[in-house]
Amino acid sequence: MKTSTVAELLSKNIKLHDIEIKGWVRTFRANRFIALNDGSTIHNIQCVVDFEKTEEETLKRITTGAAVHIKGELVESQGKGQQVEIQVKSIVILGDSDPETYPIQPKKHSFEFLRENAHLRTRTSTFSAVMRLRSSLSFAIHKYFNENGFYYMHTPIVTGSDAEGAGEMFRVSTLDEKNPPLNEDGSVNYKEDFFGKETNLTVSGQLEAETYAMSLGKVYTFGPTFRAENSNTSRHLAEFWMIEPEVAFMDLAGNMDLAEDFLKSILNYVLEQNKDDLEFLEARLLDEEKVKPQAERSEMSLIEKLKFVADNHFKRVSYTEAIDILKNSKPNKKKKFKYIIEEWGADLQSEHERFLVEKHFKCPVILFDYPANIKAFYMRLNEDGKTVRAMDILFPGIGEMVGGSQREERLEVLKEKMKALDIDEEELWWYLDLRKYGTAVHSGFGLGFERLVMFVTGMGNIRDVIPYPRTPQNAEF
Ligand code: 4AD
Ligand code: MG
Repeated sequence: MKTSTVAELLSKNIKLHDIEIKGWVRTFRANRFIALNDGSTIHNIQCVVDFEKTEEETLKRITTGAAVHIKGELVESQGKGQQVEIQVKSIVILGDSDPETYPIQPKKHSFEFLRENAHLRTRTSTFSAVMRLRSSLSFAIHKYFNENGFYYMHTPIVTGSDAEGAGEMFRVSTLDEKNPPLNEDGSVNYKEDFFGKETNLTVSGQLEAETYAMSLGKVYTFGPTFRAENSNTSRHLAEFWMIEPEVAFMDLAGNMDLAEDFLKSILNYVLEQNKDDLEFLEARLLDEEKVKPQAERSEMSLIEKLKFVADNHFKRVSYTEAIDILKNSKPNKKKKFKYIIEEWGADLQSEHERFLVEKHFKCPVILFDYPANIKAFYMRLNEDGKTVRAMDILFPGIGEMVGGSQREERLEVLKEKMKALDIDEEELWWYLDLRKYGTAVHSGFGLGFERLVMFVTGMGNIRDVIPYPRTPQNAEF
């Protein structure tokens, strides 16, 4: 007989019949009722054991965490709380679980505790829901690009150029750390290193994606990205996944349209496909909110919030307008911001971004045309000579979700910018070649995947939306 999944057995139009199922015991109650879960759905299926016909030795081994193989009959449930249940005819314990030491007890655990047990935390409802959503979101992303004529491109993880300027990098080296080969001046001689030059883990696949956009037209990367910043926040990881589309002949306005359409389409996909998990997470959040003071509770439930973003236009606001709003805002005048906005040119901190999104506009905001000197070297300089065609998309509860721009396609302007920032032209010779041979307007953006998963699941800490988070002082598992 084919083994069924819990999801299959709980689906509405399944026929009642003899079945076989394998999974893990969540709870075992009254020597009779097993709540069984196999990861296929947030829901458990109730398996009713006839304790008179089951050996005592077997009954003892049905404990939380044990893996079991059950044969039985799917019947309409006698009790409340479920439509169907399994009348167990035979049960085999595939693997015991010591109930004394099993960390995932059937009770509420703190997320901190579960992070320390990240190898087992997907045996809880919350983390299994989060990780199913993570998987579904990745699929929705590939689906969107595939249906819209984009090619999936694998950009390198090890890179030889450190000019992106997106953040501090992790060095990749096979040199003997105690006794590295030295140059005459005492510095390390990377010519003798594995790649014959200094190499690092990539901070972004953008520059390589640009090369493919300028031949294949529409491409995207979706891969791991590494930043060695020492920022221990609930929104930063040292290893995170980034989605970076890059499109030839597309300007900044087109870039904004693409990003908005892309995000909405993905939200709609999970709203349709992951209802059960979203409903569970929504209820979890409502529970959590109950203990908060009224003023701190959110106005919308999780699903309402996702629908709101999927159905409403993102507000498009220039950096200059945003600075005016912030300068005249209450928290700025009353010096409630940690960083007071005094004048045009100031870099926006997350407190400012969140004020704009959560208090002022109350919807996702696309900020564009930032001052050139607070943004990366490759962004297209505007005619005013002081702003660049950059855009950041800010989300409620998250802050920066997306960062992107129209790229500088003019060779001379780009070279000048690199010179001013002391970026070696020789190192980026191939990047400059794009501006020599068939250069054209092109644009793209980067979406931090974990920030998207945070938004969709309502989880408050980025460490809880990636299987094994890498953060300063932490690389367990
Ligand atoms: O704004 P960033 O640094 O942009 C780039 O890297 C560009 N090369 C993207 C492009 O135009 N192709 O990063 C893009 C996004 C941010 O908006 C944020 O969502 C996420 O990546 N991000 C991080 N997520 C988790 N942990 C970190 N340390 C992150 N740094 C950036
Ligand atoms: Mg950014």
